[in-house]
Parts: sequence; structure tokens; C-alpha cells
Amino acid sequence: MTNTNKKVLVTGGTGYIGSHTVVELINAGYETVIADNLSNSERFILDRIEQIAGVRPKFYEIDLCDKAKVEDLFNAESDIKAVIHFAAFKAVGESVKEPLKYFRNNNLSLINLLEVMNEKGVNNIVFSSSATVYGQPDVLPATEATPFQKALSAYGSTKQMGEEILEKVSSATIIKSIALRYFNPVGAHKSALIGELPVGVPNNLMPFVTQTGIGKREMLTIFGDDYSTPDGTCIRDYIHVVDLAKAHVKACERLIAEKAESNYEVFNLGTGKGTSVLEIVNAFEKVTGQKLNYKIGPRREGDVESLYAETKLANEKLGWKAELGLEEMLSSAWAWEVKLHEGTVEV
Ligand code: WQD
Repeated sequence: MTNTNKKVLVTGGTGYIGSHTVVELINAGYETVIADNLSNSERFILDRIEQIAGVRPKFYEIDLCDKAKVEDLFNAESDIKAVIHFAAFKAVGESVKEPLKYFRNNNLSLINLLEVMNEKGVNNIVFSSSATVYGQPDVLPATEATPFQKALSAYGSTKQMGEEILEKVSSATIIKSIALRYFNPVGAHKSALIGELPVGVPNNLMPFVTQTGIGKREMLTIFGDDYSTPDGTCIRDYIHVVDLAKAHVKACERLIAEKAESNYEVFNLGTGKGTSVLEIVNAFEKVTGQKLNYKIGPRREGDVESLYAETKLANEKLGWKAELGLEEMLSSAWAWEVKLHEGTVEV
């Protein structure tokens, strides 16, 4: 039963993390509205959300860089209680080659959204940020107080700038915001009806692993095994996308219930556990029984050696803790890849 006091707008809601979050919002009784320009996602995800959650979110196919379209949406949807803003470009490598595309899209869409929210008196926003803002911290685990390092990509800059914009706007207007810094989202919903849909050759490790496992990619290249880590490969904090989605529901609840302790709050969303690339490969083979064809290649420029989260703040303040382990991350990612392979969806 939806409670109209809890209507949430999800921008980028047909995307990977967005779609999983819409499912969890519906499960928690929220009414959901999605705004997405489908530049990096597929319309059929709406059908899958309805199949999983039994409710079809209202959908607006709009580009948030078009402020008039954002105003039309807020006029049509008058009682939005909170916005979760996922819509952004997120390919790190592409952002190095095309910085202006990233600055325009990621920053202008946020500015348009905030201007219209301010005009319409919608004062709660949850922002999709990233652990990439930390670069390579001097001390691990990374806490929310860990200083930013100069972003190595335009994508990273847009996340740092996005947080900066929110902090300043939240101190000058009625808008209250929560920035969620994701570590490495992986996995898929247990139904295998939604998951990561990389366009073209995947940049990220997990989809490359599952596509290699299914035979869509010839071989996985591990980018370097000469790092100062136990097995020489990079360490990351992989977090199940469903755990990540549930944290967004908690953040919405915190804002709508006016429980935030300041106008701008930041939370790390990770498991607090670091896992190396080789450990991922070995665990994948064990969990799926699927041999993985891989080789060691040169380091990838811009990669940090090791990054994992201190999650105490989110545990305490959001009442949220990651529950799903590596096995569920890997088995759900594989089940989704198998389902994609069986289906007619070509990505
Ligand atoms: C993980 C590890 C690679 C591919 C980035 C962004 C972050 C977020 C997640 C958007 C690294 C290694 C990878 C491959 C490999 N993006 N790897 N072979 O770089 O930690 O984070 O993606 O929200 O903001 O910074 O994730 O999955 O690309 O890499 O060896 O084919 O896997 O070197 O050590 P990353 P990743």
C-alpha cells in the first residue's frame, strides 16, 4: 500500500543502481516517479521493476539538462517529498577524453534539479556520489573525513563538485541533502530480472568477469599484479547493489522524517572489507564453477592501489549495514549474465 506522503522522484531510475533502488523504495511503501533520458539504460527495465515489485513507477523520459522539462515534471508531480539523483555519466575513461561532456551533463543536470526543487519547495535530495572522490587515501579505511585528493578524471571531478554544490546550496536554502559515497557496486537482484547493463565493452571488473565467463569476452586482463598488496593486485570494497539500494531508502527516510543532524550529510556505503582482483577471480570460479580465462596485463592509468570504507557513520546514523557477502555478489552477477545471454537483450 503506497503512502502518498512518501512520493520520491528517482532520476536515472532505469539505470543499474537506480532500478534496484526503485524496487526497494516500492517495497518500503513509497510511491516512485522515474526521470531518465535512457542514454545509458533500457526502457524494458520498467517492465522488470513492475514484475519484481508489482507496481509500475510513473516514467518521464527527459534530459535533466533541459530545465523546462524538469519544471514540467515538478508541475505535473506536485507532492514530491524527496529526490534521489542518480542520473549522470559515469565512465571514468570516457570522462578523461571528453571532460566537457561530463561537466555539462553531470553538473548542469544537478543545478537544474536544485533550482527547480528550490522554486517548488521540494527540500530533500539524496545524491549519488562515489568513493572516487578520495583518490588514494594516505590512511585506510577511508572515513567521511578523509580529505579529497585531486580527481584524476572529469567524472571524479563532477562528483567532488556535486558534493560542493550541495553543501553550499543546502546551507543557503531550505534544501537538505545527503551524499552517499559508493565504493564498488556489484551483483544483481535475486530475481535476475535487473542488473548491470554495460553499453559496449565494460570498463568495470565485474561485468567483464561475467562476460568472460559466459564467453562474450575472450579473456579478462588483470590490470597489474605488481602493487604493494598481498597478492599484487588492487584492492576494492565491493558492495552488493541491493545493500546499496536499501541505504538509499534509509537516507530518504532520514530526510523526510527531518532526522538529519545538519543540512548536508555524507555517508560511505561499503562493506568495510577489501578484496583484491585475484580474490574476485578465484571466488568467481569457486562460486560459479566457471573457469575464467585471464592474463596479467599492465597497470591501468588512474587506478588506486587500495580503497575500502569505514562504514561506522552509516551504520549508526542511517541504521544501515551491508548484509550480503561476496558469494551472493558473485552468484547474483553470474545469474544475471546467464539470463542476459539467454534473453533477447543485446548490450
Ligand atoms: C576495479 C578493479 C581495476 C577491469 C570505478 C569508478 C567508481 C565507480 C566504479 C562509477 C581495479 C581492476 C577492472 C578489468 C581489471 N564507477 N580491473 N580488469 O576503478 O575501482 O571504480 O568504477 O560509479 O567511481 O572509479 O572499478 O571495476 O573499473 O576496477 O583488472 O577489465 O578491477 O584495475 O583494480 P574502480 P573497476
